[in-house]
Amino acid sequence: MLSFTLSAVLLLAAACLLTTSVGSIEKAVTCDFIGNVQHLGCDKGVIRVEAALYGRADRNTCSAGTRPFQVANTRCSQGGTVDVVRRRCNGKKVCELNTNVVRSPDPCRGTIKYLETNYTCVPAFRAIACEGSFRRLFCGEGQVISVFGAFYGRHDQTTCSFGRPPRQLLNVDCLSLNSNTTVTNLCNGKNNCTVSASNSVFGDPCGGTYKYLEVAYVCEFPLESP
Ligand SMILES: *[C@@H]1O[C@H](CO)[C@@H](O)[C@H](O)[C@H]1NC(C)=O
Ligand SMILES: *[C@@H]1O[C@H](CO)[C@@H](O)[C@H](O)[C@H]1NC(C)=O
Ligand SMILES: *[C@@H]1O[C@H](CO)[C@@H](O)[C@H](O)[C@H]1NC(C)=O
Repeated sequence: MLSFTLSAVLLLAAACLLTTSVGSIEKAVTCDFIGNVQHLGCDKGVIRVEAALYGRADRNTCSAGTRPFQVANTRCSQGGTVDVVRRRCNGKKVCELNTNVVRSPDPCRGTIKYLETNYTCVPAFRAIACEGSFRRLFCGEGQVISVFGAFYGRHDQTTCSFGRPPRQLLNVDCLSLNSNTTVTNLCNGKNNCTVSASNSVFGDPCGGTYKYLEVAYVCEFPLESP
């Protein structure tokens, strides 16, 4: 009885860890002018994108200096925007992007658009391995890994930069599209796993750039109790 209660409590705790966000919902809005940057960030935990809109849903947002007909269409949205933003940002502490990643094809010509992203910060472990390194992910006894996001590439000029020639750090928009699936297949459901940050595992998304692997994961108690 005691052990049943205990594991029920642990399960509950695990469920809470996954569903409770560290903070309230955050909202970032970036008006669609070439070069404008959207910055998402978490002081604690990692980013989980809840919703994203590229288009226009009201007349007021990003309306300064516009003419009425440019903000009249309030039912404009680019399909798939949330998936693009999730793929780039879920599981990171900081994520920067601009509207180039969702701009075409234009969902409503003549309308001034914006990118609006709602996200929360959720608890997760993070691990970074520079190209040519291994890293072990592990959970406590009885728990298993659930990968939240994984990125092999380069997103800033500082991570894994020690002693590297500057030209190898310049490309900060480099991402191997299969990284999440690859790490998920290697690690999900295991108590521990070793990941290798290398082109042989992830392919080479940007030759000449020195890359790194960033993984965010949570530890869960498996649903079926022993
Ligand atoms: C973001 O949240 C706000 C406030 O809850 C809501 O009005 C808005 O529609 C949400 N944005 C998206 C893109 O869903
Ligand atoms: C990575 O894959 C896992 C498992 O399929 C999924 O839950 C998660 O949303 C994915 N993350 C990203 C950033 O696509
Ligand atoms: C790693 O996980 C395996 C099972 O997935 C387990 O047998 C092994 O004891 C774990 N190693 C450590 C050091 O926890």
